[in-house]
This record gives sequence, C-alpha cells and structure tokens, in this order.
Amino acid sequence: MENFISLAELSTEEVYEILDLAAGLKEEWRRGGNRPLLLGKVLGMIFQKPSLRTRVSFEVGMSHLGGEALYLSPQEIKLGERESVADVARVLSRYVDGIMARVFAHSDVEELAAQASVPVINGLSDFSHPCQALSDLFTIREERGTLRGLRLAYVGDGNNVAHSLLFGASMVGMDIWVATPPGYEPQEEVVAKAKGFAQRMGSQVVLTHDPQEAVRGADIIYTDVWASMGQEEEREERLKAFPPYQVNAQLVAQAGRSPLVMHCLPAHRGEEITDEVIDGPYSIVYTQAENRLHLQKAILLLLMGGA
Ligand code: CP
Ligand code: NVA
Repeated sequence: MENFISLAELSTEEVYEILDLAAGLKEEWRRGGNRPLLLGKVLGMIFQKPSLRTRVSFEVGMSHLGGEALYLSPQEIKLGERESVADVARVLSRYVDGIMARVFAHSDVEELAAQASVPVINGLSDFSHPCQALSDLFTIREERGTLRGLRLAYVGDGNNVAHSLLFGASMVGMDIWVATPPGYEPQEEVVAKAKGFAQRMGSQVVLTHDPQEAVRGADIIYTDVWASMGQEEEREERLKAFPPYQVNAQLVAQAGRSPLVMHCLPAHRGEEITDEVIDGPYSIVYTQAENRLHLQKAILLLLMGGA
C-alpha cells in the first residue's frame, strides 16, 4: 500500500490485514502503550475543512507511536490558491514522512498522492471518507465478531461516507441497503463498483427510497448529516427532502431486532437522528469515534514503516 485514498483500491485481504493490525494496536495500547515504531517520523496534516475526530485521532495516534503530527490549517496552506496542489505536495515531501489531507475536491487528494514522494492519506473528500468506513468495519467486527453476512442499512444522504461504506461493506461480504431521497443517491460508478465486489463475495447492494424497507432485518443502522461540509447553501432545500429519512425510535423498531446504531459524527441531533436513538441502548457512536484512533494507527504504520 503506497497511499490510502479510496477503499476501492484495497483487496479484501488488505482490508482484513489493517483490521487485524488495528486490533493488535488497540490491545497493546490498553495494556499500557504502543511501541514507538514511528519515532522521529512526522505526519503533515492539511485541512481545508473543520475536524474534531480526524485531526485529534491522527495527532494522538502519531504521538502514541513516537512520532509527531503537524496541523496545517485552511488559512495557512490555501491549497491550490496560494500555490498549486502539486507544489504543496512536492515541498511537503521534503519535510515530512507522510501527508494526511482533508479536502473539498477529491481530485486534490489524488493530485497530492500523484505528486508527493511520501504516502498520502485521504482524511475526507467530497467523494469519500475511507478512514471512517474502515474504522466502522473494525467497530462492527469488534461488536458482532464477524462482518460477512451482516446487513447494514444506511439511511440519509448518498454522500462521501455512504460511498466509502458501499465499498467497505461490499468488499467484506456484508449486505448494504442504502435509502436516500430521490435525487440524493450515491454516485452510479460507486454503486456499480460495490455491486461488483458484492457479487464476488456473494452479498447484496440495494438502493431504495424507502427507509422502512432498508432497515427491515438490519444488523446495523447508519446515518450521517443531511448537508455535508461544503453544502451549507443547500441546507434549506435538503431540510425539505430528508425528514422521512430521520433515524428515530419508530424507524429503528422496524429492524425487528436489536441493531447497532452508528453515526460518523458530528451529528445534527433532531435532524438525521434523534437524541433518543443516538443516546439509546443500541448506539455505539462513541466507540466508533474512539476506534478512529486505533484503525488509523494501523494505516500510519503500514504506510510510514514499522509494520
Ligand atoms: N467523523 C469525522 O471525520 O469527524 P471530524 O469531521 O470531526 O473529523
Ligand atoms: N458527510 C460529512 C461527514 C463528516 C465527517 C461531511 O462531509 O461533512
């Protein structure tokens, strides 16, 4: 693995390799701390958008492994504005051992990866959020002991998180149902690729506009915000289309079993998810947030040496 840009570029074996490494790192950390396998290494972190989990988990993760992380704010770098994406990639490569970037345009993180001589990690783009989805598979496996054969229902916007979950779930043989309002479906190329992975694994990828149908028999119900970062001006319009897709107690009851409830956070409580559900007995959102730390340590070790 040279870069970590999209889950679709990994093999199923590589996915499990990362999950197993993360499990070992979590256990080691619980027993008292990780070995300083990235001693002297520096991760440069470019942020075009705000972050709590991604920034803190990468920064703390580097520190646990003996390395350091450098936070580069939107004001500092002005990616593609103050200087070209290619020049940022080439210059940063002379200073740091790895780059993590949270960008608006997915093509920018691809360009960074193409031009940098150090590994590049996608910390969220308008297209995907691979660290999140892989970490979510880790959390689901931890909770349920397995992935293959489970059914995940994603209810809400067909966005970056939905895209990465489509790739991740289909690659490990989970059924994934995605319920969105008409016009907010995930991109066709993502669905087609996920269907290809699912076919190989003997699982299903189903798109629907009916949230009730999606959650029936689901082992996991997952949602995310209705307007992502960068879509603020669409918020009012989206607030009209999305209310039938709210993950509330009534919808969760349709699962007909006790599903795990997941949300990548930050949540807009009262919009895509109710307090009752996110604070309820099925919710694992804080474990989900914690596991970003453990999973990303595995990615850092695989890309920056030491594993
Ligand atoms: N889930 C997630 O990536 O959170 P942040 O936007 O806070 O990093
Ligand atoms: N879809 C959300 C995820 C935030 C972690 C966004 O892009 O804003």
